[in-house]
Amino acid sequence: MLMLLAFGVLLQEILANAQDENLIEIKNIPEVPLYSYRSINVPEEHIPYFLHNNRHIATVCKQDSHCPYKKYLKNLKSCWGYERSCKPEYRFGYPVCDYVETGWANDIETAQQIFWKQADFGYVKERLDEMKTHCKPIAKGDSSLACSQYLQHCRATNLYIDLRTTKRNHDRFKEDFLQKGEIGGHCNFDSQAFMAEGQRKSPLQSWFAELQTYTPLSFRPIEDGKCDIIIEKPTYFMKLDAGVNMYHHFCDFVNLYITQHINNSFSTDVNIVMWDTSSYGYGDLFSETWKAFTDYHIIHLKTYDSKRVCFKEAMFSLLPRMRYGLFYNTPLISGCHGTGLFRAFSQHVLHRLNITQEGPKDGKIRVTILARSTDYRKILNQNELVNALKTVSAFEVKVVDYKYKDLEFSAQLKITHNSDIFIGMHGAGLTHLLFLPDWAVVFELDTTQHWENTQSLLTTHLMWKNYVPCAFGCRSCITTFQVAI
Ligand SMILES: *[C@@H]1O[C@H](CO)[C@@H](O)[C@H](O)[C@H]1NC(C)=O
Ligand SMILES: *[C@@H]1O[C@H](CO)[C@@H](O)[C@H](O)[C@H]1NC(C)=O
Repeated sequence: MLMLLAFGVLLQEILANAQDENLIEIKNIPEVPLYSYRSINVPEEHIPYFLHNNRHIATVCKQDSHCPYKKYLKNLKSCWGYERSCKPEYRFGYPVCDYVETGWANDIETAQQIFWKQADFGYVKERLDEMKTHCKPIAKGDSSLACSQYLQHCRATNLYIDLRTTKRNHDRFKEDFLQKGEIGGHCNFDSQAFMAEGQRKSPLQSWFAELQTYTPLSFRPIEDGKCDIIIEKPTYFMKLDAGVNMYHHFCDFVNLYITQHINNSFSTDVNIVMWDTSSYGYGDLFSETWKAFTDYHIIHLKTYDSKRVCFKEAMFSLLPRMRYGLFYNTPLISGCHGTGLFRAFSQHVLHRLNITQEGPKDGKIRVTILARSTDYRKILNQNELVNALKTVSAFEVKVVDYKYKDLEFSAQLKITHNSDIFIGMHGAGLTHLLFLPDWAVVFELDTTQHWENTQSLLTTHLMWKNYVPCAFGCRSCITTFQVAI
């Protein structure tokens, strides 16, 4: 970014000087870029993929001497993998399976395909392929509603929501919050097909409860002046999981990121509205992460209470606890790793939060031990472990206790991202390994006893698999130690 800026400044200076010398020749060169390239704000590695999916920007770039991405224009074949125009050899990545888990597949190729659909960009393709338009616009200015199966996510335009008579209680996801006529749009609605999508009605699994009263309206909400507030900015609706737990909250963020891929829109000039039918606030220990997605504060739905509010462009985001969703309790084929989707998510968040990599360091290995102070996550012989590690001169050992009160989340990420070896106790804290560098190694400490009264050791491994998103194909190597206590 800095280089970019410097480049811009330099160019402007050259232009200014040239202008003094020769006023006529300079006429055709615009002084300002034809596009705000800085607003793209994705990791440099993602730019070719971005340009593949935004040909209009690629075209502008071609004509614009200020465009910093000219080197990518020669080859616009790179693609994430879900695009219709995407050839497999140009995909962002493809998973690797080391063995075939029987019951899932018979050969490695099939296993890789399954994993790609379960936990890589194939997941986006599946949602895109499922999409159905439930409310069709007929004339210009009409509304629309299109969703993936079971209303796991939806896109709505010119959406009307009437919150004039809402009653709020303690229930965060009240199912009969909106009555018929209180949500809808001016479009041709196929009610029967829509109601058939209700099989996964559940707060964090689908938007069925919220949209089941969607009504085809006799008026055009915006044009006919039926809205007290009109929201022009594109809006993401989200139903959030626990904001005090990194594992759960990152299910929110990952699903928001996947939704952005589905819609091919990564702008931060968007609203995020937290769909909550209670009047409670939201405890969020990881709120800095929102900066990767929006320039603004999160808006509680109650902000619009007692008003008729209309949204020109709205996405109902994929949810954090969907069946076969990502990454809460997902049944997943084993033996596979290397999902590009999670790698892209990690890069995207780190880039937008400006978390930089300062290694790897010559002759030094940065070891981070994640200490937890809660009773069940303590490493009892931590001092012994640290002292033993310190006898190896190549190790730079750091013990961290990621308490948000002492260390803000971005500072935590900075430490994690600058670790070559990461050691921690089984638990949500290990969600941090999403943000390790590619070459890092993870040592997960786990007691057999901890889970003994619930399930067997085998199940512990299964739980672990679901507990830590990295199992979805971490680039990092994970070694689990069973510690007897
Ligand atoms: C979804 O994509 C459309 C089409 O590019 C865009 O107009 C809209 O703003 C996007 N929605 C969101 C919420 O970003
Ligand atoms: C990003 O971080 C680097 C160093 O960590 C700093 O020099 C730079 O100013 C930061 N950039 C922005 C845009 O905050």
